[in-house]
Amino acid sequence: MNAPTPSPYLSGNFAPVHDELDLPELEVIGALPPALRGAFVRVGPNPQHPPRGRYHWFDGDGMVHSVTFTASGAHYKNRWIRTEGFLKEQARGEAIWTGLAEPPDLMNPDGAFKNVANTAFVQVQGELWALWEAGPAHALRVSDLSTLGVRDFGGALTHPLTAHPKLDPVTGELIFFGYAPLPPYCWYSVADATGQLLFTHEVNLDVGVMMHDFAVTATRSIVMDLPLTMRLDRMMEGGPMMAWEPERGARFGVLPRHGDESQIQWFARPACMIFHTANAYDDGDEVVLDACRMDRTDVLGGAEKTDGEGDDGGRLTRFRFNLKTGASTEELLHPTPCDFPRVHPARLSRPHRFTYAGRLAPSDDGTPRMDGVIKFDHQTNQGAEHGWGPGRVGGEVVFAPRPGAEAEDDGWLMTFVYDEAQSASELVVLSAQDLSPVARVILPVRVPYGFHGDWVPGV
Ligand SMILES: [Fe+2]
Repeated sequence: MNAPTPSPYLSGNFAPVHDELDLPELEVIGALPPALRGAFVRVGPNPQHPPRGRYHWFDGDGMVHSVTFTASGAHYKNRWIRTEGFLKEQARGEAIWTGLAEPPDLMNPDGAFKNVANTAFVQVQGELWALWEAGPAHALRVSDLSTLGVRDFGGALTHPLTAHPKLDPVTGELIFFGYAPLPPYCWYSVADATGQLLFTHEVNLDVGVMMHDFAVTATRSIVMDLPLTMRLDRMMEGGPMMAWEPERGARFGVLPRHGDESQIQWFARPACMIFHTANAYDDGDEVVLDACRMDRTDVLGGAEKTDGEGDDGGRLTRFRFNLKTGASTEELLHPTPCDFPRVHPARLSRPHRFTYAGRLAPSDDGTPRMDGVIKFDHQTNQGAEHGWGPGRVGGEVVFAPRPGAEAEDDGWLMTFVYDEAQSASELVVLSAQDLSPVARVILPVRVPYGFHGDWVPGV
């Protein structure tokens, strides 16, 4: 076991907080819209104990932070997610598991990995599920952020569950995949609106790849075989488990939503990395995919660095895959680096006009830094930007539709913003139509940087 090495992800506003709080009726600068009723929720890594060995940002125990909007104002709450691993380490009083920057401890009697439930949410069956891409979901109650338990489709789930399943806003189906470093490397599944798992099919790949996201249209799904590979044999020889192998190129597999591996149509593209898609939709013979495309990646930092270049930041890019001709194209939509793209939840899998994404800025230590928001209008092909201000860093922006709205962008954008000089956090609410500030909810506590959020209406 190596001695713990200082990690940038344990200092500044990446450092964990240790109090679980309920803070009602927070100070608000500006005016909260009366129609804004519900909860903004965001999850992220917040390690309960000092790490065993080197720490990677993805390792920390999931903690949820919520700001709920009611008639009496804005209210903050935060809770760790009570996963099995969290409870075991709480009882033990120290970390049991090592993280991604260390070789997995295959001899650990508690299992080689801890499901940290720290990555993203999906709302299904009236529950909020916290997701982690190498294990099942954990259901939460939004009102008190208590952990209700593990959700694995009644035991029918046989593969890791992506942190980015897609909920069809029309049919209620949940479409998802999973990946692993062992054959078949990828699985594809669909559950119906009642939560019944309809099927799971293997998607056999040549090698394991990190597949953080995928996309769906109203009729098809798109899996991404990108060259951030996972090789156990390389690790056994002393190399990194994950490495960037651009010579492999990239492949996008399009299959009917209820199809199987035999029906996948593969489209080869130059090497790229995509962590997050914005949306996809059917357009005649073509499938359109919008995603934040990177030329390369260095996701695991120095320990796994292979080309000495590092991440170059995603850029909003439109791919088109022609199912009749087999041709494909890609088009850069906006030159500003960005990631964590989102669309109106009712447009998911259907044509969308607007994409919102976190604007990426350079950072001194290589940690991701989102200093603003980008709104891209696919009808005018124009991008608008709003910055959080000097020394202020935000995160993924979540779109909350105005109840009864007709315009796709009639609603609000929200994210936690951290002021580095003041060491203070707030929730910023913008008009999604013109990116003008609407309100700032002042938090008397620091909210560490995290991953994905969601809007739960009407709580
Ligand atoms: Fe993600």
